[in-house]
Order: sequence, then structure tokens, then C-alpha cells
Amino acid sequence: MPIILAIESSCDETSVAVCDNGKITANVIANQTIHENYGGVIPELASRVHQQNIVPAVQQALTIAKVDKKQLDGVAFTQGPGLLGSLLVGVSFAKSFALALDLPLISVNHMQAHILAHFIDEPKPKFPFLCLTVSGGHTQIVLVKDYFDMEIVGETLDDAAGEAFDKTAKILSLPYPGGPLIDKHAKEGNPLAYRFPEPQIKELNYSFSGFKTAILYFIRDHQKENPDFIAEHINDICASVQHNIVNILLNKLKKAAKQYHCKEIAIAGGVSANSGLRSALLALKDSLGWNVYIPKFEYCTDNAAMIAIAGYHKFLQGEFVGQEVAPMARMNF
Ligand code: KG4
Ligand code: ZN
Repeated sequence: MPIILAIESSCDETSVAVCDNGKITANVIANQTIHENYGGVIPELASRVHQQNIVPAVQQALTIAKVDKKQLDGVAFTQGPGLLGSLLVGVSFAKSFALALDLPLISVNHMQAHILAHFIDEPKPKFPFLCLTVSGGHTQIVLVKDYFDMEIVGETLDDAAGEAFDKTAKILSLPYPGGPLIDKHAKEGNPLAYRFPEPQIKELNYSFSGFKTAILYFIRDHQKENPDFIAEHINDICASVQHNIVNILLNKLKKAAKQYHCKEIAIAGGVSANSGLRSALLALKDSLGWNVYIPKFEYCTDNAAMIAIAGYHKFLQGEFVGQEVAPMARMNF
């Protein structure tokens, strides 16, 4: 009956969760609004704010879960991948907390945790399944054979899908993170108003760096004729951009499903909150006979509940790390 405290601090969310025997009983997320006007996360600012948020977030999570720290059985934390300074705050806190309370430490890979968020609630995917993991830093198609037996079968060669959303938003003068705002405008626009090229990338890989440049030139050319182009057509621009990114993502996912003869299909990560991606995937569920798994909104973007569920399964397997553990900006499965 383990009770696990979990810490997530890989980017700009300080999050703390409690998992009581496989059930999430608290998931506190302290968002950082300080980055809004910079068009992206400023690493130095992110680590400072984590430092301020982490102790109150832990106290709040324990209060919500109605758990005393003496009742805990383990401390799980994000070891990587992520921003080094941000990770350092969470890893150092987890190590000190575990040392003080003589608790085992559980290291969690952030990208695996996004996928394992599917094991928080029902329905849970059946192994093996394919997961399209789309976030601000990663875009991967992962063949998930077991909780911690995962193989990346395709990934982006440059920018992530979340970056394509965020950089487009910056060009449109929308604040960071731009993904949710593009999604909001897209709901009012025509997805077929403008066309953008689909990059021809080999196998199951992606590329989004050319996309940003295409948008930049597209806006520049239209603004030459109409300086108010963005303001007048923001909904159609957002709907078309979103439609294009979703198509690119799903075309490779369809290819992967065929190649691996797999009909158990999941999405995970911040971009899995996108309404266009969610509805396009549901449409494929019917046309291709897939079993589709879409996370609850609160488990799409960064959260410690996913770290807690991953930590719980590692606890059951007796997989712990020592005090010498250090954060890793890059971390493989
Ligand atoms: O997983 P996440 O919270 O952090 C990373 O691990 O990177 O993902 C953040 C990314 C950002 O790029 C953000 O713009 C994007 O997820 N995002 C969205 C939506 N909500 C968040 N992108 C498109 N549509 C959304 N509704
Ligand atoms: Zn993430």
C-alpha cells in the first residue's frame, strides 16, 4: 500500500502530487506566468520561481491528500529530460526530503511519465500500444511494450510540434505558451483557408523547423498587401496552421500503426490537449477501428500526477536510486 510523493520541475511548472496505492489523491500545479511576454521559457527565471514554489506546493499537496509526511513510503522526482536549472531544484528537494525522512528515491523520465499518465484512470491502454508524445520539447512515436519497456520508433529531427505552435504564436504576437491560444482562435476559423506545405521526411520521423519559416514568409507576404492581415484573419490563420500540424502528426501515426500492426493508439504531452488533434484522432478511431486513448486535460501538460503514477510502478518493481543521482537535461528511455 505505498504512498508516494512526486515532484515535477522539468520546465516551467512546479508540480507536486501524491499517489496512494495507485490512486492520485493530490496534484498541485503552480504555473509560472512570468514567461508570458518572452515568447518562451527563460531558464534562469524558471529555476528561481521553482525555488519559491516548491515548499508551499509540497505542503499543499500533503494537505489535499490528507497525508502526514511520516506516512510516505517513497519520493519520486523527474530526473530529466528538461532544463537543467529547473530540474536541479526538484531533484535537490527530493533528495533532501528523502534523506531527512529516510525514504527511498525513485527517478522518473519525464517523457515516459507523459505516456504513463494513461495508467492514472480507466480505460487503460493494453500493451503493446503506440503513443504519439507531443510536447514543447519533444515529438515522438513510441512503441510501449510495458511500463518501462519503450522504444522510440519515430521522432522530430529538429523542432517539436509544441514549438511549431509556440513559434507561430510568437509570429502572430500571441503570448507564450501559444498552443492553447492558437487552439482557441482555431475554433472560430476555417481550417482550409490557407495551405502550408507538408515536409517530406523519411520513415516515421518529423520536421517542424521549415514550418516556422513558411509561416513567417506567408505572414510577411500578406502584410505587404494588407498591414492588418493578422488582426483581420487571425482565426483562419490559426485554424489552418493547426489543421496542418495535426495532419502532419497523424499521417505518421497512421503509418506507424500500419507498420507495427497496432490498433491501440494513445496521445500524450502538452499538445495532446489540442482540440483539433483530439477530434481528428477520434475520427480515426471510427474509420480505422483503433482503440484511442486521450488523456484528461489536467494530465496533458506538465504535472506531477504522471510522475507519481510512474513512481508507483517503479516502487512496485523495487527500482530505486541513491543520493548520488543527478538531473539530466537529456535522458534516454
Ligand atoms: O508537455 P508540456 O506541458 O511541456 C513539455 O514537456 O514541453 O507541453 C507544453 C507544450 C507547449 O508548446 C504548449 O504550447 C503546448 O504544449 N500546448 C498546446 C495546447 N496546450 C498546450 N498546443 C496546442 N494546443 C493546445 N491546446
Ligand atoms: Zn512535458
